[in-house]
Amino acid sequence: MAQEIFDKVNALIAEIKAAEPKTKEEVEQFRIKYLGSKNVIKPIFGEIKNIPNERKKEFGQLVNEAKQSAEAAFQQGVDALENAQADETLANIDLSAPAEPMNLGSHHPISVTMNKIIDIFERIGFMVEEEREIEDDWHNFTAMNTPEDHPARDMQDTYYLKDSTENLLRTHTSSVQARCMTRQEPPIRIIAPGRVYRNETISARSHCQFHQVEGLYIGEGVSFADMKQTLLYFAQEMYGADTKIRLRPSYFPFTEPSAEMDVYWGLKDEVDHRITKGTGWLEILGCGMVDPQVLENCGIDSSKYSGFAFGMGIERQAMLKYRISDIRLLFENDVRFLKQFKSAF
Ligand code: PHE
Repeated sequence: MAQEIFDKVNALIAEIKAAEPKTKEEVEQFRIKYLGSKNVIKPIFGEIKNIPNERKKEFGQLVNEAKQSAEAAFQQGVDALENAQADETLANIDLSAPAEPMNLGSHHPISVTMNKIIDIFERIGFMVEEEREIEDDWHNFTAMNTPEDHPARDMQDTYYLKDSTENLLRTHTSSVQARCMTRQEPPIRIIAPGRVYRNETISARSHCQFHQVEGLYIGEGVSFADMKQTLLYFAQEMYGADTKIRLRPSYFPFTEPSAEMDVYWGLKDEVDHRITKGTGWLEILGCGMVDPQVLENCGIDSSKYSGFAFGMGIERQAMLKYRISDIRLLFENDVRFLKQFKSAF
């Protein structure tokens, strides 16, 4: 009698192991039959009362085996189904389909030009300094050898902050020279890119806001020749290896001697004639040896140190490079204009 029951359970286990449910329906049928609330294993546990005591343990283990086999077979079926589904999803992906278009932004031509200038000077050891656009009178003018009654203040019409005679929008990045020299011991070798403001009538050629890059190199025995060589290197990196430069005497309150630097642009076509006023030469920047008085104003010993400084406008260089005829385009942020620079870096 007891043996009969044992045989029945063994047969059930064999049946479970052979079942291997595969389709969704098979797996569900299998679950209902062997693991559901009215499954066929459950009643067998009740048979334990007909088993002699010495075989009760063996019987319990066998019924448990049946239950565990059913659970394992069910899980295998579920796993197989999931894998099949994943395979199907993969098979349905069209790997040759074009990717979703990415909406790429573009760099502003001012940033592209500025970054190029920064890159050129960083390669020869200049460090980038970024400073405030709201300056005080001292850093923008006084320290730079331009006291209150100095006629040079008229050269740059200044925006003062409301009700202030002290705070202003910097008129040039030369204010960064004063910031650096007062907080740092020489040697100093920096470039300072940034936005500057002047109260000027807006036209195709001038704007009340624009960008400059300032350069400053202070050390022992820094000479005019060092400046010229640095600026020649810059011009040739920026405008091509055979670019020629010339320095014309000029005046700035904070440099002595001062100069303006031109690059030779050429006179190939009518536009060249127009932008160089028929000379072939284009003015790019102002420069000079830092006036000893400026060093002293900023607490640097002018008997020990000397240096040079230069300042260049960005807009004009960007306009030359990209043949942009109206400076206002650079500040209007019209996407039809900006998206033309997608390929520029
Ligand atoms: N700050 C001057 C300008 O804005 C340029 C300059 C900078 C000249 C440094 C000489 C030295 O025109």
